[in-house]
Parts: sequence; C-alpha cells; structure tokens
Amino acid sequence: MPEIVRDRSDLRFTVAHWRKEGATVAIVPTMGALHEGHLTLVRQAFNHADKVIVSIFVNPKQFAPAEDLARYPRNLEGDAELLAGAEADLIYAPHEDEIYGEGFATIVSLSGPAKAGLEDKFRPQFFDGVATVVAKLFIQSGADKAIFGEKDYQQLLVVRRMARDLDIPIEVVGIPTVRDADGLALSSRNQYLSKHERHQSTAIIRALRQAAEKIIAGAELQATIRAAARSLNTLGFKVDYVTARNAETLAVPQSPGEPLRLLAAAWLGKTRLIDNIEV
Ligand code: PAF
Repeated sequence: MPEIVRDRSDLRFTVAHWRKEGATVAIVPTMGALHEGHLTLVRQAFNHADKVIVSIFVNPKQFAPAEDLARYPRNLEGDAELLAGAEADLIYAPHEDEIYGEGFATIVSLSGPAKAGLEDKFRPQFFDGVATVVAKLFIQSGADKAIFGEKDYQQLLVVRRMARDLDIPIEVVGIPTVRDADGLALSSRNQYLSKHERHQSTAIIRALRQAAEKIIAGAELQATIRAAARSLNTLGFKVDYVTARNAETLAVPQSPGEPLRLLAAAWLGKTRLIDNIEV
C-alpha cells in the first residue's frame, strides 16, 4: 500500500528525501472516487517522473451550494487499494485545514481559458476553486510534473495557464481521455447514472464523433455543431453547450485551419456529463 500522508510537512519531508536521491516527482491531483481513468493517469505519470504522488482532496471551493459536495463519493481505503495496484508512491490526503487554514483569504482567479463561456458559464465558482487548490497542491508538493486528464479539457488549459502565469516551476501534462468500450468517458459521476441513463449516455460521444467527421469532410462548422446539440436535445438530454473552439485558447474559431476541439456538456436526468474530442 502506498503511504498516506495528511500533513504538508510530511509531504515535503518525503519529497525532499526523493530529491536527495536524485528522483523527479509527478503529482496527479484527484478528488478520490478513483476509476480506471485516474489509474491511467498514475501509470502514465511514470513516463514523466520517477516518483508519483496522488493527492485526494474533495475541494469544497469548487462546488456551488446546490452541487453534489455532500454526496460526492468518498472511499479513501478503496482508493488506496487501487493506487497500490497502480504502484503510486505516496497518497497526499490533506485535512481541510492543511489546504484552507484558519483565516484563509486568497483566491486564484483567471481570465483567458477560464472565461471561455463553457464550464465557467454554468459553474461560475468552479475554476476559481480549481485554480486555488491546484496552485496550493503544486506549491506544497514542489512536483516537477502534474498529470491531468483531457476529459476536463478546459480545466487542463486553465491549470496550465495558471502555472505559467504564477511562475510555478511545474510542467502540466495532458493525457487522452480513457473511455469505456462503448465510448463513454470515464468519470466519478458516471456512478450516478441509472442503467437506462448509462445506456443513453454514449449519445454524447457519438454526436461529437459524427460532428468531427462531418467537419473534417468540409461541412459548415456552426451548422454541424447546432445539429449535434439538437440531436442530443431530441434524445432527452438537457444540453448546456455543444461547441467548437480553438484547441489551445478555447476562443471561438476565427479562421480555417485553426486547431479545433469539440466540447459538450449535457444533463441526463440529475447527472451532468461532459466530454470533448480533437477534430
Ligand atoms: O479534476 C478534478 O478531480 C479536480 O477538479 C482537481 C483537479 C483534483 C482539483 O480539485
């Protein structure tokens, strides 16, 4: 079992010891409820560093009052067992006051990719919460690399921007989304889906893939995207957005030949699903 540390002083002690041995260090930030997607991030992390820390912290600052903070799945023991299988070196599961100590008053707030009108439009507090906790995890760990999934594509770009802007000496590495055999992107929230919803859920990736194929074949961008959104609405999803954006900035595409990413978010019953693909 990887060792579980709760205090940033213990985290720093272990990292300092590794550094003395000349090891490089990666961190995989998570909120627990680990699944194969996270374990892939951990395994991939070993392609980028000698030692791998997994942080597990359900970050209250990134949940809105009406969101699922209270019911967010927590299972540290089960997570630790999974991480033993993936050969993680250390689990950092901080107490809340290791992250937000008494009188905590600082928020890391970005514009640019964090104000692209995607997740930020529907979850206005989300990226302030993510950027704040991730900045702290980067600084507390002193890791050389941070590993993030492309599933949360806007988050990946926000975190990369934040580290650059604050001169935190860490490289943010993005890893392709891990999917079930039928295409559904793995997510801790998939466990909220009923059997019927789980069956319907693959419509999102199918709609994105079809749209990407049509765009590559020369179809008009906005009309193709609107058709994809309509098809999901018809199937009973409540679509927050389906959109094509510049893959590096998330700006609305201006010219042909830009790198494109298709991104979607939609509700299926009480569960909000997001996904994205490269074009
Ligand atoms: O993607 C997540 O699980 C969270 O947003 C993160 C990056 C661990 C920050 O709390």
